[in-house]
Amino acid sequence: MHKIYLILLFSLSIFANDGVHKFAPSSECKQCHTKIYDEFSSSMHANTTPDKDVIHKAIWDKHPANKKMNRYICGKCHTPAANNLDKMLTKGSIAKADVNNKTHQEAISCAYCHRIKAIKKGKRTNTNIINKQEKAYYTSLKNKINPSYHKLIEDKNQFMKSGNSCIGCHSHKMNKHSLNVCSTEINNKNGADNCVSCHMPKIDGHAFHGFAGSHFNSEMLTKYVDISVSKNAHNFSVNINNKSSHSLLLHPLRVAVLKMSITRAKKTIKIKKEVFVRIIGKDNKPAMPWIADAVLKNTMIQANEKRSVKRNFTLQKGDKLNVVLGWFLVNPKALKKLGLQNEEVATKFNVFKKQSFEF
Ligand code: HEC
Ligand code: HEC
Ligand code: HEC
Ligand code: HEC
Ligand code: HEC
Repeated sequence: MHKIYLILLFSLSIFANDGVHKFAPSSECKQCHTKIYDEFSSSMHANTTPDKDVIHKAIWDKHPANKKMNRYICGKCHTPAANNLDKMLTKGSIAKADVNNKTHQEAISCAYCHRIKAIKKGKRTNTNIINKQEKAYYTSLKNKINPSYHKLIEDKNQFMKSGNSCIGCHSHKMNKHSLNVCSTEINNKNGADNCVSCHMPKIDGHAFHGFAGSHFNSEMLTKYVDISVSKNAHNFSVNINNKSSHSLLLHPLRVAVLKMSITRAKKTIKIKKEVFVRIIGKDNKPAMPWIADAVLKNTMIQANEKRSVKRNFTLQKGDKLNVVLGWFLVNPKALKKLGLQNEEVATKFNVFKKQSFEF
């Protein structure tokens, strides 16, 4: 009896969801919150579905749950406003990602985020608990006017403002081999975890809803990564100071690169680049996130880390050292296998920070 109960509890905790709720579509917010709506519409949160995000689709197309189970298990975080979210997360049900289902196309909608009441912690993933009151939205701001269109609930514990409302989806994702595929290291002791202060900075008097990140608006985050250079007699070091509370990049598909060159008497001298990756795999070979059971290599710049990259090169007076830190969203080595070699978003090198140092 005891054992069965435990197994039941365990499987419930894996697939734990908060049932299905009805959410006002984001287009309804547009007429009164126009700026926020426009920012949100071009952010990743409005584009998390397989038909809008080719990188997500490429992985989902290969996932065993796609063909065998016919169940879009990713919906828990990628289409949480789906009207059949419960089926997506229940064994034996059929619930595909559906381009024609409007609630799927809402992706991570305005109303969804603003109704997250609490987070239930879980081993494999956390779960968002949604406020059942329709059209009542949490806000950390004290309101003078109570709008007639919807109710507002004052976020007295700063659940939203502190970024605690983000970690239902962003804390971690563990596969069945107990490998953390992705983790935002929210328990790290070094720094503040406030996702909102960095990723939703105040602009034009409101919290930015374009969610600065690795796809879009990364220029808003450059101030959290400092680059400096130290010069010695026969070598130099480029020092990268990551002031964020998590690794520079989080998803295992990403590859960050530090490119360096020297301008000397109008000529360019190339310097060997440095690559930062976290590769997951099995039996010492890179593997898909559902197969991987180990981290094979981790050179990613960690939370609050100061990384020095040294090169044996003698800098002369008048030399200019040019430094570019950026990333590929998809590891170039995985492009072909994922059929992404012709997709610009996957193949392009995103420049994050560019600096020159004169000697
Ligand atoms: C008919 C106009 C109207 C529509 C439509 C509307 N809102 Fe509002 N909303 C308001 C007004 C007015 C306020 C109060 C602004 C203030 O006090 O400064 C407000 C405030 C808010 C706040 C709190 C911001 C603050 O200043 O405290 C949130 C969050 C919010 N709305 C979310 C939404 C969402 C999500 C939608 C769509 C599902 C939506 N609103 C649709 C008029 C509207
Ligand atoms: C626990 C929540 C959660 C679940 C469940 C989830 N994801 Fe995600 N996924 C995220 C978050 C958060 C990000 C953004 C991470 C980042 O940018 O580092 C993301 C990003 C991705 C990306 C990168 C997309 C891009 O444009 O670069 C891929 C690929 C992806 N997920 C695939 C999947 C697949 C396939 C599934 C289902 C089998 C799935 N995810 C289930 C939370 C989740
Ligand atoms: C319902 C789940 C969910 C919640 C809640 C959520 N996110 Fe996300 N977030 C995602 C997913 C899924 C992605 C990846 C989308 C993709 O790449 O397809 C993502 C992507 C991002 C990105 C990357 C954007 C880019 O340009 O690459 C940032 C930054 C981000 N989220 C910040 C936040 C912050 C801050 C909060 C809290 C205010 C938050 N998220 C709440 C699921 C969520
Ligand atoms: C990923 C989660 C997420 C999504 C999606 C989201 N919001 Fe927000 N929103 C927040 C958080 C967190 C804050 C609080 C920022 C703070 O308190 O500093 C906020 C703040 C606001 C505010 C108050 C803004 C201010 O600073 O004056 C309004 C209004 C609002 N959101 C409306 C919307 C509307 C409308 C949409 C869709 C177009 C939307 N939100 C989508 C998380 C989200
Ligand atoms: C001190 C500032 C800071 C804080 C706090 C912070 N981040 Fe970031 N975040 C960054 C920087 C810098 C990057 C890398 C640059 C970029 O992606 O544009 C980044 C990147 C990301 C990405 C994209 C990673 C990828 O692999 O695509 C996601 C998703 C993200 N952060 C989510 C979060 C969440 C969720 C929290 C809170 C738990 C958080 N961040 C806290 C600064 C911060």
